Amino acid sequence: MKILVINGPNLNMLGIREPGIYGRQSYTALVQFVRDVCASHGAEAECFQSNHEGDIVDKIQAAYGNADGIVINPAAYTHTSVAILDALKAVSIPAVEVHLSDVNQREEFRRISYAGMACEKTYAGYGFDGYRMAIEYLVEHYG
Ligand code: DQA
Repeated sequence: MKILVINGPNLNMLGIREPGIYGRQSYTALVQFVRDVCASHGAEAECFQSNHEGDIVDKIQAAYGNADGIVINPAAYTHTSVAILDALKAVSIPAVEVHLSDVNQREEFRRISYAGMACEKTYAGYGFDGYRMAIEYLVEHYG
């Protein structure tokens, strides 16, 4: 099975950005973690990160017919982007939402998730492990 893992804006700054919230590990370490988890389940991983909403929409559209599952951390676009929600609905590829931090325990504006409305599950507040849980959910249900 092929899993597309999408990370949104500022997640390329992992390890540098607000380490008290997002941890000290880098985006490169996250990609390695995701690849290892996928490999351990016999799944293929494609990792994509962008700071641009339209590029994320393009990537989701390009996944149509090419990916069996999507793991997405839309980062700040979680709370604003109807375009990402609509793209996920358009392709109707099984999707799981991940957040490193527990968005429900932070500012009020982080409690709304548009992308989450098109996702089967959300894992928030588990750090890198949330990505493992999301991959395992997809492998279990669609692998
Ligand atoms: C985040 C939470 C978002 O609210 C924030 O804008 C991010 C990262 C997380 O992984 O915890 O950039 O998606």
